[in-house]
Amino acid sequence: MELNTSSTFQTAVRPELRNLFREAERTWAARADLRALYGSIDSLDFWVWMVWHGAGEDPRIAAAELPFPPSELLERVAGWGCSHDTFRKGGIVDWRRVVTTLRDAGFTFERGHVLEFGCGCGRILRHFARFAHACQFTGVDIDADAIAWSREHLKFADFRAISTLPPMDLPDASFDAAYSFSVFTHLPLDAQRAWLAELARVLKPGALASLTFHGRRAIERWLDGTSPSTTPTAERLRGDLVKFADEGYLFYEFGRMTSPHASNEEHWKKLDRALYGNTFLSRSFVEREWTRHFEIVALHPAPDDWQDFAVLRRR
Ligand SMILES: C[S@@+](CC[C@H](N)C(=O)[O-])C[C@H]1O[C@@H](n2cnc3c(N)ncnc32)[C@H](O)[C@@H]1O
Repeated sequence: MELNTSSTFQTAVRPELRNLFREAERTWAARADLRALYGSIDSLDFWVWMVWHGAGEDPRIAAAELPFPPSELLERVAGWGCSHDTFRKGGIVDWRRVVTTLRDAGFTFERGHVLEFGCGCGRILRHFARFAHACQFTGVDIDADAIAWSREHLKFADFRAISTLPPMDLPDASFDAAYSFSVFTHLPLDAQRAWLAELARVLKPGALASLTFHGRRAIERWLDGTSPSTTPTAERLRGDLVKFADEGYLFYEFGRMTSPHASNEEHWKKLDRALYGNTFLSRSFVEREWTRHFEIVALHPAPDDWQDFAVLRRR
């Protein structure tokens, strides 16, 4: 099938992405049902279909996917026993939310340089292959193993290992947009302040950032016992709710973390507990604390009852 000239897919010429885009075009041409459902090969939802359903149903699409990280690295971002299917489905759903929060705020993904702060092994960033013909992507993380794997296997983006506290070795005002998923959910207040200032430094004035945090809905999951994490226990969190109502901020250091992977045992041991745990923020706290360098564009209560999104604009 000939693609119309407005298709963004045909310009995806990077060798490691060619098979993936070829499969998208082949599938689009072969599936009248998908064409009726999604209208355009450029539709975001068609891309989500390719990853969520296509890769599971069609071995040719699965064979064209970008490689999967080893299980140790999957575990670090998505929990012990995370399968490829869970990794791809969780990643594409979270990717879609990142894209729509930024798009709704005016970032089109037609050009520009986008930063992921705390990208791990690229669970979300890998799906930005969809826009690699138009935008540049950089992922940063303190996890040097995840960065080394991503650099070798997700060649369409640039990856950098960073320290637990700023600065990053990135120039001032060099990014048009940034996002961070499930990182500010783990940082105490001083580290949040330092990283927000650093993100503001590397973003251009007027640039957008979409950052997730644990808000009221995540607290409810802790209290009803459906949170996958027990730091803190539901009982302890319940006891701190008055403090949360007053201050809008709670932070709990992680206790000892164990893993069947020896390399992950070492990895968890090296983490500075004072700088990594579970953090809960109220909307008014975000409005007060996250606005030194940014204005709030939107606050989206967690669509998955887990990660709220704050969409910010660099002043
Ligand atoms: C829960 S994982 C989320 C990873 C990725 N955003 C995703 O959604 O798959 C949290 C990530 O934050 C990284 N991280 C923790 N502290 C950090 C810090 N101070 N600066 C940057 N990244 C940090 C961890 O190494 C880890 O990759």
